[in-house]
Amino acid sequence: MLLLGAAGNSGRLIAAELAARGLSVRLAGRRRGPLEDLARALSAADGATTAGVRTVEAGDAASLAGVIAGVRLVLSTIGPFARQAGPVIDACLAAGVPYVDIANEWAAVRGLLDRGDQARAHGVTLVTGAGFGPAATETLVLRLAGQMGTVPGLVRVAAAAEVAHRSDGVRQTIQESLSQGVAMTYRDGQVVREALGRGATVLTFGGAQRQMLPGPVGDLETARLASGAANVVAYIADPAAPGSGTGSWAWAEATGPDGQTFTAELRLGEGVRATAAIAAETARRVLAGARPGAWTPGQLFGAGLVTDATGAEVAVDGQPAVPGMPAGGMR
Ligand SMILES: NC(=O)c1ccc[n+]([C@@H]2O[C@H](COP(=O)([O-])OP(=O)(O)OC[C@H]3O[C@@H](n4cnc5c(N)ncnc54)[C@H](OP(=O)(O)O)[C@@H]3O)[C@@H](O)[C@H]2O)c1
Repeated sequence: MLLLGAAGNSGRLIAAELAARGLSVRLAGRRRGPLEDLARALSAADGATTAGVRTVEAGDAASLAGVIAGVRLVLSTIGPFARQAGPVIDACLAAGVPYVDIANEWAAVRGLLDRGDQARAHGVTLVTGAGFGPAATETLVLRLAGQMGTVPGLVRVAAAAEVAHRSDGVRQTIQESLSQGVAMTYRDGQVVREALGRGATVLTFGGAQRQMLPGPVGDLETARLASGAANVVAYIADPAAPGSGTGSWAWAEATGPDGQTFTAELRLGEGVRATAAIAAETARRVLAGARPGAWTPGQLFGAGLVTDATGAEVAVDGQPAVPGMPAGGMR
């Protein structure tokens, strides 16, 4: 398989997680030196043999086609995905190769999910959002919807990641995503765009009060699809508020037609490490066989994916989740 952006902050951790799963990986990015350093480090740490190092410029269709030729799956960490994912997906469809990414911008997640017909026509599996955001809130919503046994009227989700290092890729992605000053929510089944900051609130999860605001994130789509709710809000941590320093947390709340409310939360450690485990496990499962189409990780692999990948535990209404919650997926 091919890992795009392998020498980046998330790419290096994903490469190690893939190696730990015994997968042979072609490492690709713009600069050869850091890729060769990574290949040596993987070999020294795990005895992992990589499937070579290749330079690629994702903005160049010929360069992309050359590096994708002959691989069984592409895992991309090249963001901002709203701008960079399209050409990579095009190249994967043309080559008939499955694609997985770690996008969490609303436009990127929605953009990939809108390509289901194309993906089926090419017989290719496309998966977006295989990272802490939005997979952590998705697993919570799948569990709440399964527990309620009915379609909630309103779902609210929130995520607050703690990261050891904020890379150029993350900084650029956040900047491009928030620079339009707009956030989306679903109201009565329709996307509503409002000024960023509107609907800001304080939510308590992970033992801390957090200043949150509706954000243009993929969690909005995954929460809607996982629940079927017509009204959905996905909150991000207010960039101006201080972090809580208690690890990465995801939270979800579902309100039934009778007004009864259920909540669930999940703690993960460092956010990029969690992303690496979720992305690598998603790639491993897609390689093992997944239906053509455009999917979220939870649609393909169910509520158990994130907890299986990371070892994290979910608490529903303050209690550990009941084992055997729907985790089936629809591979
Ligand atoms: N879903 C989640 O929870 C989650 C978690 C972490 C990150 N992310 C997202 O993942 C993306 C990457 O983050 P990161 O921290 O890994 O960033 P990073 O450390 O800056 O790494 C990005 C990598 O992509 C490569 N790259 C960038 N543009 C390229 C191009 N046009 N062609 C070929 N390679 C290119 C770079 O290669 P060179 O070094 O050779 O230039 C670099 O290795 C961001 O969009 C971030 O928001 C999502």
